[in-house]
Amino acid sequence: MDKQRIPLLAANWKANNLWEDTEQFIAQLRQALPQYFIETGDMPLDLVICPSAVYISLMGSLLDSAQIYLGAQAVSAYGPGAYTGEVTAGMLADNGCDFAIVGHSERRQLFGEDERAISAKLRALREQEIVPILCVGEELEIRESGRAEQFVLGQLEALEDELKQFEAGELVIAYEPIWAIGSGRSAGPADAQGMAGGIRGWIGSRLSTDHGEMTLVLYGGSVNPDNIADYLSQPQIDGALIGGASLKADSFAAMTMACTELLERNP
Ligand code: PGA
Repeated sequence: MDKQRIPLLAANWKANNLWEDTEQFIAQLRQALPQYFIETGDMPLDLVICPSAVYISLMGSLLDSAQIYLGAQAVSAYGPGAYTGEVTAGMLADNGCDFAIVGHSERRQLFGEDERAISAKLRALREQEIVPILCVGEELEIRESGRAEQFVLGQLEALEDELKQFEAGELVIAYEPIWAIGSGRSAGPADAQGMAGGIRGWIGSRLSTDHGEMTLVLYGGSVNPDNIADYLSQPQIDGALIGGASLKADSFAAMTMACTELLERNP
């Protein structure tokens, strides 16, 4: 958390929550976090919810004028055109998406998304002015061999040409160690802080000083209401990408409140 950057909590619903769950979630969130539904102007903490593509339009209408951003979990590297089953960046923009997750380890591992595809996706998002939440992170074996930072910076390096095209402040990086995702075993806040610092250093030297200062670096992997403040209190960490603990409104609201309290204590 740093004074210049507005922290961000991003909910990654993955393949969870149906129509009724979505409606219920927003109704409950409206009760728990009324300020996001009534106030205007800048919030001390930004929120983005990324439902399945099928429910993006529903989420957009439920959020209506709320101060909560709409996000997507994936985007096509192609299109528009003859690409059966794909959802293009233009379609996401047309439905009001401000953010899109790209390069998530589940997409890399289960759906074979490689650097070439991720690079094309980044370009497609940039052309539609959608901010990517680019995920990077290492396997446990790499962490244990002491090569985690080298590996993660290598993932960024493979995308360097495309990352350079983004304006400062138009890019979010999520550090998600693969072994911490959905496992209940989160990275220690100090380890996450170390990696976030390494990522920021790389961005500052390869893109520009402004990019280094303005890029949000999130932590993701078994974040929950009890540990979120430990991450956000680290100076290099600007928020979190949250899977399991973001599916229910009470838990998402509890994380938002824990971060808001932390920000109020350290204005
Ligand atoms: P998790 O998922 O919070 O359930 O560990 C995080 C993510 O994969 O983005």
